[in-house]
Amino acid sequence: MAQQVKGVIAPGKNEPVRVETILVPDPGPGEAVVRIQACGVCHTDLHYKQGGINDDFPFLLGHEAAGVVETVGDGVTDVAPGDFVILNWRAVCGKCRACRRGRPWYCFDTHNARQRMTLTDGTELSPALGIGAFAEKTLVAAGQCTKVDPAAAPAVAGLLGCGVMAGIGAAINTGQVGRGDSVAVIGCGGVGDAAIVGSRLAGAARIIAVDIDDRKLETARTMGATHTVNSRTTDPVEAIRELTGGFGADVVIEAVGRPETYQQAFYARDLAGTVVLVGVPTPDMKLELPLLDVFGRGGALKSSWYGDCLPSRDFPMLIDLHQQGRIDLAAFVTEEIGLGDVEKAFARMHEGDVLRSVVMFG
Ligand code: APR
Ligand code: ZN
Ligand code: ZN
Repeated sequence: MAQQVKGVIAPGKNEPVRVETILVPDPGPGEAVVRIQACGVCHTDLHYKQGGINDDFPFLLGHEAAGVVETVGDGVTDVAPGDFVILNWRAVCGKCRACRRGRPWYCFDTHNARQRMTLTDGTELSPALGIGAFAEKTLVAAGQCTKVDPAAAPAVAGLLGCGVMAGIGAAINTGQVGRGDSVAVIGCGGVGDAAIVGSRLAGAARIIAVDIDDRKLETARTMGATHTVNSRTTDPVEAIRELTGGFGADVVIEAVGRPETYQQAFYARDLAGTVVLVGVPTPDMKLELPLLDVFGRGGALKSSWYGDCLPSRDFPMLIDLHQQGRIDLAAFVTEEIGLGDVEKAFARMHEGDVLRSVVMFG
């Protein structure tokens, strides 16, 4: 029997979100129903609401979540009722061309639940990133549930499900930051700060944080930045070169998603260095670079989708490091809010006041 729970819906383009009763079906084969304990508010949720992702309204928002598995469908063996899990949007298929080549973090056929959650009148909902976790319970593919140490706080664990993993992974997986490297991170919101945490974890010797907002630079320092540059007042390319013996950083992580910051990243790296684009551009944006510079400077220009993470490999490891006090993921939780406060949280995000607001469930 489908269950009735409360969830946050984006009804139409740019319309305010609202709390509605939704119907969550019992899990079918390969599916699981998860009781959500915490779910962070991410830019992607706002993009869905603004119609920036697609037009499949109404959306059930929320995707940075942790909770407890309530029931599982036939054939589910990796998780069981009672397991504490982080939800992921990369349940790899194991069969596509990327998976078969041993690169499952590029999986082109990731799994989501087959059944749809609905409004009480039967209207089908589109869950954000195939998750939909601003809801007391949600239905996902079992592979979207990653078991982690249940001693971790749900508000902290949930953030690994998206933005924080994207940033840490941009440094440790995509950028392959290594011991002694110099790293620059352009844009120090939640994603950029997570890239700083990842760079420090990987042993970077110098971590230069770049932002246009001094408040963000202060936070970046507490996350592990060794130097900060306000690019509103200082040329960041010059500053990064100066801080790296005149050469540029080994790895530059662009966590804004704009052509001008990408260009800064491109020129702020050392010869044969690496640029990682983890900020998400909009469709209208164009990049123009002298092709000779692309050739002549060598190195690698990479993008990082979801931090090139493998949830089953990366989530438990990062939660363990957090529990041991070796990384501080709690620093990303700015405030804990209720299910009815998502619209307000979008406004605060827009003002740049918060790293993450996290919806808590009783
Ligand atoms: N130069 C430097 N920093 C900038 C610039 C700029 N031109 N423009 C904005 N910023 C800074 C902001 O001041 C802010 O600190 O970039 C940061 C962006 O942070 P958030 O808005 O909190 O976004 P975040 O959640 O970190 O995501 C960053 O990654 O996943 C994507 O869609 C996401 O594109 C977004 C990016
Ligand atoms: Zn695959
Ligand atoms: Zn997200």
